[in-house]
Amino acid sequence: MIRTVETKPFADQKPGTSGLRKKVPVFQQPNYVENFVQSIFDSLEGFAGKTLVVGGDGRYYNREAIQKVIKIAVANGFGHLVIGKGGILSTPAVSCLIRGRTAYGGIILSASHNPGGPNGDFGIKYNIGNGGPAPEKITDAIFARTTTIDHYKIADAPDVDLDTIGATIVEGAKVDIVDPVTEYSALMKTLFDFDAIRALFASGFRMRFDAMHAVTGPYAHAILEGELGSGAGTVVNGVPLPDFGGHHPDPNLTYAKELYDLMMSSEAPNFGAASDGDGDRNLIIGRGIFVTPSDSLAMLAANARHAPGYAKGLAGIARSMPTSAAADRVAAKLGVKCYETPTGWKFFGNLLDAGLATICGEESSGTGSNHVREKDGLWAVLLWLNILAKRRISVLDLAREHWSIYGRNYYTRHDYDEIDLTAANGLMDALRGQLASLPGTSRGVLKIHAADDFEYHDPVDGSDTKAQGVRILFEDGSRIVYRLSGTGTAGATLRVYIERYVPEDGNLGEETQSALADLIALSHELAGIEQRTGRKAPSVIT
Ligand code: G1P
Ligand code: ZN
Repeated sequence: MIRTVETKPFADQKPGTSGLRKKVPVFQQPNYVENFVQSIFDSLEGFAGKTLVVGGDGRYYNREAIQKVIKIAVANGFGHLVIGKGGILSTPAVSCLIRGRTAYGGIILSASHNPGGPNGDFGIKYNIGNGGPAPEKITDAIFARTTTIDHYKIADAPDVDLDTIGATIVEGAKVDIVDPVTEYSALMKTLFDFDAIRALFASGFRMRFDAMHAVTGPYAHAILEGELGSGAGTVVNGVPLPDFGGHHPDPNLTYAKELYDLMMSSEAPNFGAASDGDGDRNLIIGRGIFVTPSDSLAMLAANARHAPGYAKGLAGIARSMPTSAAADRVAAKLGVKCYETPTGWKFFGNLLDAGLATICGEESSGTGSNHVREKDGLWAVLLWLNILAKRRISVLDLAREHWSIYGRNYYTRHDYDEIDLTAANGLMDALRGQLASLPGTSRGVLKIHAADDFEYHDPVDGSDTKAQGVRILFEDGSRIVYRLSGTGTAGATLRVYIERYVPEDGNLGEETQSALADLIALSHELAGIEQRTGRKAPSVIT
């Protein structure tokens, strides 16, 4: 039976950089999930009888939310639901399933790299038929609907058994519980030279993959240890847990410190990697070298031809604005265009769909390609492995070689978490107020060449997106960028991105924070970070 339930709007259901993210208790309020999911469906049309893919990263409240999504989707007329066993699907696997099964769309239950558990974060994101995050036109419509919603439809049916593979019927719709790994793994085999990677491992090459008790555990066990013979014990923290074992499932140098320390020690294996809560981010560390995500994008793009899926070359490269310009130099050498988009994967979708870009990346540990429409942590790991297998070179030597060809973009991001929202907005407003007067002025040896608030004109759909971050651009190619996070759930997070370019004949071996010391000091001064936020130092440095 299908029931229509009366409800009242919640005022706080505006999707951010990547879907709706809130603390678990917010989602646990009666009708909170129901309202948002119904608002998604109310903003779409033509899905009667069609397929919806649903899965999440296994965090606390995943199972409860999935049962609600199933019942609301069925009541609204979807004809077929594809759900990962145990409610588990990584974000790239959802994208892969949507595309592989030509589904109408998908719903991902995740708050990505944010902590989980009863007082942690939860999130709901809608993806469209190309497998990518809904564009702003749709997320704006969803938000508008959440402000007026007065009823939702839900099937009065028992909970679906999420742990048994196979199909059941709920109110006339087919509900398929599928293995979360099978179709994703098959796609990876079409892109990479699995034989070459197997041979690399057989030659004694060792790696460690930290799944951070998040969603990639099952994928990494099956693909790295199972298919590629990386050896038992390669994957650590491989069991997804509702609270990620109490850790912060963000693969950066702060939260994946154990992996970093191992990779810098004399016990280091050849290659270290990690992925985040929902499996779309990646961390790459070689023996004795952390590869920044911006550099990783550039190095992968420069060497992608070694993987069968990219042997024909790249149509173009795309990076988010705060990501370093290292990829631009590779694009120039390859003779292809490099697109600069606002922060968030959703801006890459149009470029990939139109065939303008093949590989994309963000400084926030996100790398991916046209194989799906999400960033993809394990894909990045496999492309690295494929390149290392073909070239038989260490990560450190590959990085040195890269810098000696293209020069080096020293790069760091400083995050100030949970600062006061009013103070954060005041800081950004004050920066915007200075934009007109900064160009032409100097700070020490650094001369400001331009300053703006980044705007993007989408070459495919013609849309314009404004106010995407304040950029201070220096004459020598250095940059300081300021923006507020759109994914946080407590107060505001100020992100400061700092970059300096050193040409191939310059000093390429400096320690990053000291190479950037002048710019870091200037980033404080220009924005008055301490006066406005009370913070002397960032909470996280990546
Ligand atoms: C952050 C990252 C951004 C990424 C997003 C989703 O968004 O900065 O690159 O696409 O998470 O993973 P932010 O919190 O900065 O808005
Ligand atoms: Zn993520």
